[in-house]
Amino acid sequence: MRKTAKTIKQLKGKEKITALTAYDYSTALIVDQSNVDLILVGDSLAMTMMGLDSTLSVSMEVMLHHTKCVSNAVTNALVVADMPFMSFHISPEQAIENAGRFLQEANADAVKIEGGQVRVETILKLTQNDIPVLGHIGLTPQSVKAIGFQVQGKKCDEAEKLIKDALAIEKAGAFALVLECIPAELAKEITQKVSIPTIGIGAGAHCDGQILVYHDMLGLYPKLTPKFIKQYDNIGEKMKTAFTKYSSEVKEGTFPEEKHSF
Ligand code: KIV
Repeated sequence: MRKTAKTIKQLKGKEKITALTAYDYSTALIVDQSNVDLILVGDSLAMTMMGLDSTLSVSMEVMLHHTKCVSNAVTNALVVADMPFMSFHISPEQAIENAGRFLQEANADAVKIEGGQVRVETILKLTQNDIPVLGHIGLTPQSVKAIGFQVQGKKCDEAEKLIKDALAIEKAGAFALVLECIPAELAKEITQKVSIPTIGIGAGAHCDGQILVYHDMLGLYPKLTPKFIKQYDNIGEKMKTAFTKYSSEVKEGTFPEEKHSF
């Protein structure tokens, strides 16, 4: 059985939470068999899968499609669908309608919403209607036009705002909170102040859990290698070696062999 938002929330203080992205069936199957608690169908797919420069233009239909593919594979982890830019900004009613589609049509277990205090009413409405919400503050990629891609919360006033954001999101009923690209000490303070788990990416070691974009940790997205990435393997290079070998073997006539033929 899949984990629930409640079981993830209960891990705070007991066990570190692990989370990874996945966007398709075959990858989700592998991630789900790797003792990962939460799988995020992130709108980062705009960059990693579609080659775009930001996440802004990804649509509800694209996110629904990828969430369905992931859901078809997952039996253990919690599946969280990322709500794309402009799918929850207009009104809480719009957010309920779109979030509901992720649960109804794509079998997601929860949705993720970027933004702090400004999202309180929306998160409240969703959680009151039994749609579990994962919050996301700090460097929120959907705000790229407003804040760029840089570490947030370095200045005192920014840090204070992020603390208020975290407390507001907790109060609105989110089951956990992603902290992206903020100083480790600030992430530690937020983690101590809120009762819900914090899941960090570029936010140091004191968060209750960690999330990575799998393309980054496997060398599949060489366009960008931020400081917080640990590359666990270079699958991109391994794929290139295998593809090149296949191509040479076909060209020189050594593949297929007798055993591959009918
Ligand atoms: O879209 C995404 O993959 C994300 C993670 C970086 C948290 O939002």
